[in-house]
Order: sequence, then C-alpha cells, then structure tokens
Amino acid sequence: MSGPTTPDAATPGQGADLPAALSEEALAAALEQAQVAFAAAADLEALKAARLAHVDKGAIAGARREIGALPPAAKAEAGKRVGAALDAVRAAYTAREEALQAARDERILVQERVDVTMPTGRRPLGSRHPIELTQERLVDIFVGMGWEVAEGPEVESEWMNFDALNLGKDHPARQMQDTFFVDPPDGGLVLRTQTSPIQIRTMLTREPPIYVVAPGKVFRTDDLDATHTPVFHQIELLAVDKGLTMGHLRGAIDHFVRAMFGDVKTRVRASYFPFTEPSMETDFQCFVCRGADDSCRLCGGSGWIELGGSGMVNRKVLTACGIDPDVYTGFAFGFGIERALQLRNGVSDMRDMVEGDVRFSGQFGMAV
Ligand code: DAH
Repeated sequence: MSGPTTPDAATPGQGADLPAALSEEALAAALEQAQVAFAAAADLEALKAARLAHVDKGAIAGARREIGALPPAAKAEAGKRVGAALDAVRAAYTAREEALQAARDERILVQERVDVTMPTGRRPLGSRHPIELTQERLVDIFVGMGWEVAEGPEVESEWMNFDALNLGKDHPARQMQDTFFVDPPDGGLVLRTQTSPIQIRTMLTREPPIYVVAPGKVFRTDDLDATHTPVFHQIELLAVDKGLTMGHLRGAIDHFVRAMFGDVKTRVRASYFPFTEPSMETDFQCFVCRGADDSCRLCGGSGWIELGGSGMVNRKVLTACGIDPDVYTGFAFGFGIERALQLRNGVSDMRDMVEGDVRFSGQFGMAV
C-alpha cells in the first residue's frame, strides 16, 4: 500500500531510508576493518597510521560527513550510530595503544637494564696515603705564613744527624735513638733518626733570616707493632732571625695547633734536647673532651695531649753552622706525623699506616 509515510516508518532507528554509508552494516564493517588494522599495527607508529586511515579519515569519518545532508528527522539516528561507531573505534584504538605502549615500555626496560653485578671495565682508583695528605696539610699551614720547605737525605751523615746537633759520640742521648747504621758500620752514615739534621743542612746553606718547615721519613730500629714502626715521619720547624724568643716559638706552635686541631689551648713543660736550650715539651688541650671526661679515650682523662719537643736552638748548634749566636737566635720544633694522624683521625693501629692497603687510604679521600 502506498500512502503517506507512517510516523513509524520515519522513526529514527529503522534507518531504512538512511544512505548506505550510514547503515548499521556499513558502520559495523568499518569498525571491524579498523579493529583489524589496529590489531595488525605492530608498533605505535603503525597504529598512528591506522588511526589516520580508520578514524580521522575512512568509512566512519565519511559517514559522519553525510549526516549534514540528511533530512532533520534522520539526523539524530544517524548521529547516534556514527557516534556509537566512533566511540567503539576509539575504544579499540585506545586499547591497542595501551597494549603497544606497555609492550614498548617492557622492551625498553629489558633493553636498558643495567646488571649491577657485571664486572666493570673501570680500573679501581688508587688513593693518596693519609700520611702524605697530613704532611701536606701541616706543611701548608707554615707555607701559608711564608715559611719555606726544606729537605734532606734519608741516608745521612752521623755528623749531621748527631754531632752537629750537639749529640757527641759519648752523649747519652745518642743511645736513646736506636739507630740503623749503614755498612760499613764505621763509615759514618746512618739512616736519619730524626728530621733535625735538616736544621743543620739549612743553616749551613742559607743565611738568616731562616724560616723553614722540613718534613721527611725517619728510621729507628723498632719492631713494627700497634704503637711502633721502624719507618715513620716527622716535621721539623726551624726559625733563625734577630730577636727571636720563646714567645715567637709559642706563637708558632699555637697557630699550628689551632689550624690542625681547632681552638684549643697549649701548655709547655721544661724538657731536654741536646740541640735546644732551653727545651720544652708542648701539650695541647684535648680537642675531644677538653679535660671534662675522666674516661676520654684520646687523652686518658688528663685533658692534655703531648705534641712534640721544641726549644731555642742551642748556641753550640748555631756556632757549628757558622751562625753567630750573639747576633741571631732561633727556635726549633719537631713532631711525628703518624702521631698527628692518630690523634686527629683516630687511627689506633700503626700497622694500618704501614701496610699500604688502599682500602685504608681510601677512607681519607683527598683531605685529612
Ligand atoms: N728530633 C727530636 C726527636 O726526634 C724531636 C725534636 C725535639 C725536634 C726538639 C726539635 C726540637 O726540633 O727542638 O725526638
């Protein structure tokens, strides 16, 4: 029967009069094509191309363009269908995109994985020895005040090591330092037992005013144990000038102690060294407990730590070096570098300093 179109016939949903591109079948086919293309996309790049072909362009986009030309009554249904198709195709795209992204991330994680247990090609770094670093630090303190560095040989003449320092052959103190004699025993050569012979070498070769700091290895016939080593290091200070007094000596020591151990007091005690007169021992206040802890491991509760010997250069020593003791006076100071390191950095076993294990040195970094 022909007649006016029943309202039902025009009801959106039937779609009989929508163009073929907007038919359920066409849209379903387009969606399926898109899904197949998305599934076939092996990577995100290919997926992007598939999106361009099936979402931005292609059958569904074409169908959408046709909506504009439809009679108003059909537009809603057509819009709904195309909308549903687009939603479905976008959902398919997003699902595939997520899957490909996850696969890519996983691949990158595997590709870029670092096996921290693999041996490296890097050579292990060496490390400067803390004795060397401490020595440098101590020397720097005096170089910073304008002093010069002086050196001398480790195999030294007995005359420099003893006689010129007022330690004559029969001087009892000569036996106090257990000496390595170089063959032949009467050849007059020893391994220097102290850095003090550098004082002599300096005074013989330089004119006053003299301000030198002299670091170096010294040797004594001790067995290696936790508190002794046959080879150790000292630093010697020597100043010779007009009008130098013990006040200047104290000032130099105080400056040194503060630079090395912080703001602590010093005290001096009368002592004896053949090459200085008067002589003294210097102590400095314990920088850990400052005397407040009876059981302090550093100072033993006394509050003071012994630093080293010093004094005014003996007139006889000045004379032996050709310096007029009526014109010039001098002061000298000597102490052990191992001891400074033990005190400052808590190294309790001397053997650690001698054995040369890089794991020990490495703990000190580039500064002590
Ligand atoms: N040379 C001495 C020693 O090895 C240390 C020393 C003491 C050095 C007094 C000095 C000094 O310059 O004045 O035991």
